[in-house]
Amino acid sequence: MTKTERREYMTEINSAAYDILGSENMQLSKGFIQHGSVSVYEHSVSVTVMCLRLADLFHINADRRAMIRGALLHDYFLYDWHEGGLRCPPHGFTHAETAMRNACRDFAVGRKERDMIYCHMFPLNITRVPGCRESAILCVADKLVSTEETVNGFAEKLAKSAK
Ligand SMILES: [Fe+2]
Ligand SMILES: [Fe+2]
Repeated sequence: MTKTERREYMTEINSAAYDILGSENMQLSKGFIQHGSVSVYEHSVSVTVMCLRLADLFHINADRRAMIRGALLHDYFLYDWHEGGLRCPPHGFTHAETAMRNACRDFAVGRKERDMIYCHMFPLNITRVPGCRESAILCVADKLVSTEETVNGFAEKLAKSAK
């Protein structure tokens, strides 16, 4: 993706969700690490850009405003999941529901956005099958971005340990 393309996506994201991006809790998520050295905020924005990119690449007629807002809020669980040791049940199985509850509390969240947030961990959460195309796109985008962030995190660690 070129810098110009990314800038255009960011302009679209800002105009559809300036209230979410500027909110206190979303700003708080800049302090929580998601994968490697990437914050939850950065991860959420990257996943949102990837959703738009996938929709454009495959000519999917998505509800772009809902997709942007649902993608930005998909990991709106608002805690550091690395702290607190082993959770039972683990973070991977519970955070989508927590994020959905937080999102419904803080923003006007529609049916599509709710489905996106609640179902984004499919197929790990095997019973929560995406119920709309925006959810299916988010599922794929989240896996792609998470894999890239995790691999980059390992590479950074390896590079540091080799010094
Ligand atoms: Fe997630
Ligand atoms: Fe995610």
